[in-house]
Amino acid sequence: AHPPQKMLSGSNKESFGYATLQSRLPVIVSKIVDDVYRAYNGLDADPSLDDSTKKQKEQEAKKIIETIGALRYELQRDKPFRPLTDSYPDVKEWNQALETFYSGSSWYKASWLFSECYLYRRIKEAFELSEHWKDYDPFFRQKSIVFKSSQKAVVAIAARLMSPVSAGSASGQDPLQDVNQLSSLDVLISQGPDSKGTQEAFYELAQICLWGNATDLSLLDNPDLAKVEELQRRMLMEKSSSSSSLGSGETLLGGSPDQQGAEGIANDEPTELEKHAEMILTNDLDKLWGKVKSLRNARVDIILDNAGFELYVDLVFADYLVRAGFASEVVFHAKRIPWFVSDVLPFDFDWTLRQLYTGNADGLEAFFDPEDPAEQKAIKDLGSRWRTYVSNGTWRVTSHDFWTSCYAFYHLPTLPTAADLFGDMQKSDLWIFKGDLNYRKLVYDCLWPTTTTFEEAIGPLGGKAPAGRKAAGVPSLVSFRTCKADVVVGLAPGVAEAMDIKAKDWMVSGEYAVISFS
Ligand code: F6P
Ligand code: MG
Repeated sequence: AHPPQKMLSGSNKESFGYATLQSRLPVIVSKIVDDVYRAYNGLDADPSLDDSTKKQKEQEAKKIIETIGALRYELQRDKPFRPLTDSYPDVKEWNQALETFYSGSSWYKASWLFSECYLYRRIKEAFELSEHWKDYDPFFRQKSIVFKSSQKAVVAIAARLMSPVSAGSASGQDPLQDVNQLSSLDVLISQGPDSKGTQEAFYELAQICLWGNATDLSLLDNPDLAKVEELQRRMLMEKSSSSSSLGSGETLLGGSPDQQGAEGIANDEPTELEKHAEMILTNDLDKLWGKVKSLRNARVDIILDNAGFELYVDLVFADYLVRAGFASEVVFHAKRIPWFVSDVLPFDFDWTLRQLYTGNADGLEAFFDPEDPAEQKAIKDLGSRWRTYVSNGTWRVTSHDFWTSCYAFYHLPTLPTAADLFGDMQKSDLWIFKGDLNYRKLVYDCLWPTTTTFEEAIGPLGGKAPAGRKAAGVPSLVSFRTCKADVVVGLAPGVAEAMDIKAKDWMVSGEYAVISFS
């Protein structure tokens, strides 16, 4: 399928694509050099390596550093793209695309989407050509540091989801009748899938899942950990009112009235999540709820974006879908190769669960070290429950080269190399796409007028096939995305114009979001 509109490109100096190629990507690439250098310096201390392996590994590290440096030079000088030279399974497809569509093209001339994907594939090539660094993830260090700095938010969520609460205070019944066994989530969903509590939990957790996308690493050239923490604190914990979206005065994560004290009860200010709701410029949560509440023991697919805190809140949402009875199977789609800095690899998924359920997965000290034993227990219990989901097949992590190909999702139903993936995904009842890059690939990264409908912008996945036929077998889908690229669709007339006046960089700052359902 040809792009339905002109695509975003770095050739436009006013665009975020240009800014990305010009300043953000060179920094991301330089940080890989730093990382490999650090890994290389740590080799001496690695007792598992014999001297000759160590020597080979060092030689290869030097070569990788050189190659990455050359790659940065190519990018900065807008050198023509060259074919890939490794033997990773997707190489043929990449080289075919390069030859067919991008022959003689280069970083700033090609679509921004292609150039950016090509960069990450070239980074993979640098490691893939070695013997000892093939599976090395040059972004893992950053991912784990930022996840660690998310401890407060992670612990707060676990505690609220897992700690026993008084069923009375949460449900608006007699507060003295303390059941003292149920967690906040249990209480909310205990009346079944059709209940108000289940609906309220849906709205709250879905928004948390959305805003988790605000803290990815590719936008933070220099992850300011304090800023990440501040974002999460504002988003999750600071609740200035008891009059939340939950009629009973209880929010799942904002704290119950008795925990907030009299001040919280007296205050009628909106919660942070309510304030954030105004920043969702097109919001199809009602439509999504309409779909979700019709599901029983369904299969839901989550096309993941970033590791760390975002993955954690994705798992919280997936856990909710299972526990409320909507889904009995959740399939998580991770990337196969290091991608856009912080994207989830299968390793990150396992690692994250391990950090939660063991507390000391690295054999050193506990990754998260809350002082409160109840909080420690909450994290371990949550992690253990999720581990059980994986071991009994309720949750499945999978990955496919399609997600790291150069192709937009328009191609998913028809690309021969994605036929197995599409065939499997057709068995699903709902696809949830997380994040900015997935959104860009859904709408083919085109310069759509902002009032274009989401249905139209996603082409075949919206039900329209090129010849006007309906593409068979695409279930309902939703995109949860904070805006980090100059493409947004589905807005009401006048919204973009108003935003241009209100916040010049609203399309790319990551502060605004869209929830689009088809
Ligand atoms: O626009 C900034 C950017 O790095 C894009 O290159 C990319 O689409 C996006 O951020 C990655 O964000 P996310 O992790 O939400 O997909
Ligand atoms: Mg990402």
